[in-house]
Amino acid sequence: MENAAVRPESHVKQLMDLVTIVSTLYVCVELPLRLVMHYKATAMVPLFDSIVTLVFFLDMVLKFRTAEYVNGKWVEDLSVIRQHYSRSLGFKIDLISMLPLEIILAAAFPTFSYAPAFGLLRFLRLKALFKFTTKVQESKVIDPILLKILSLTFWVLLVAHWVSCGSIAIGMTSTENDDITNYVRAIYWCITTLSTVGYGDITPQTNLQRVYTMIVMILGAGFYGFIIGNVANILAKRDVAKMHHLEKMEKVNAFLRYRNIPGRIQQRIRNYYAYLWESRLGYDEASVLSDLPNNLKEEVALFLNREIIEKVAIFKGASEELIRDLVVQLKAVVFTPDDHVFKAGETGENMYFICRGKVEVTSRDGKTIYATLSDGNFFGEAALLTSQPRNASVRAVEYCDMYMLDKESFERVLGFYPEFAAHIHDLAEERRKAALAKAS
Ligand code: CMP
Repeated sequence: MENAAVRPESHVKQLMDLVTIVSTLYVCVELPLRLVMHYKATAMVPLFDSIVTLVFFLDMVLKFRTAEYVNGKWVEDLSVIRQHYSRSLGFKIDLISMLPLEIILAAAFPTFSYAPAFGLLRFLRLKALFKFTTKVQESKVIDPILLKILSLTFWVLLVAHWVSCGSIAIGMTSTENDDITNYVRAIYWCITTLSTVGYGDITPQTNLQRVYTMIVMILGAGFYGFIIGNVANILAKRDVAKMHHLEKMEKVNAFLRYRNIPGRIQQRIRNYYAYLWESRLGYDEASVLSDLPNNLKEEVALFLNREIIEKVAIFKGASEELIRDLVVQLKAVVFTPDDHVFKAGETGENMYFICRGKVEVTSRDGKTIYATLSDGNFFGEAALLTSQPRNASVRAVEYCDMYMLDKESFERVLGFYPEFAAHIHDLAEERRKAALAKAS
């Protein structure tokens, strides 16, 4: 275990990431304040600085042992990880941001007054924050929209803090005020300038301050646009599925009006889309699955169709291979009340498994009801087995979620799995006899 690589999802690594991020945040907020306010450094400040340096150092040590995902494979060999990390740009950034350059420079050049500013190099660690946000986004622990809003607010506040500290550094303060009032004033000036409101009650007095204000104004215009753009984008994406559905409905309604489709049929079409929306958020499973590679498609199909597999009695004793084979061939279809799935005498191209809903198996004229089938039943197998026309009509009584299996896949599956074929044959024969008995 001594020489095992640490996985990124391990508790140690996750904890280290969190501690590093908290340390980075501390530096990003406290250090600029300390530099511009020149407040008295209590014993706590050097202590916190040492802790940050130690945390950044430990983070680097851990990175030398953390497994990496390269070209679709996990690299767990410690010597390869070490070599890879030490040659990366990330290592250089981590090293520069870890070294307490401000202390080293102050000790080496006591007259160099800008030495403390070198502490700002720790800001380079902010890249870890981007990585962290992406990770949280992928893990779906927080609603992605909420996370985007939080992250946008965070960056806006952090930039506002830095710009405010900059304004304090160039003397946009009043000697009559205490540190807190000066900071609040600076933040107020910064927000009014960045948001392009600019009340003008705090104005630059020196040329340096005027140039700085102009830069913040120009930055503000872009920044404001960036925020508005992001918020608009977040709101637009708030509910992609709903938007997609509404867009689709708009198109469908326009078509129905354009082609003067009778009101009764229009209503049925709208009901159908409303059902699709309620039952599956309007998504067409087949088109989502079609983008996936075969093995992944099989996994997802197995998960999505588990309900039908659990419900259909003939699948109960079936082997794992048969189910895997079948599941990718099934196509989800919806029938609305009164729809004919097919009529007696038609050529059979598919058989159907009922996941949810009820159908009636009737004679050609619809007057005799042979059977009512519901969840977990199947029909349409006889025409595929015998290559004869459909021996009965099937009509949906209510909204029906079904899975359809085409003739070619049906025959292939039966060819591969003779036991399953025998089972289907027996059931078809039973039904044929029942139909004959009813007819006589
Ligand atoms: P198929 O002939 O392809 O099309 C009509 C289907 O109705 C038929 O296959 C059977 O699946 C089904 N069917 C016919 N008679 C009965 C019955 N008595 N009970 C249940 N299902 C039936």
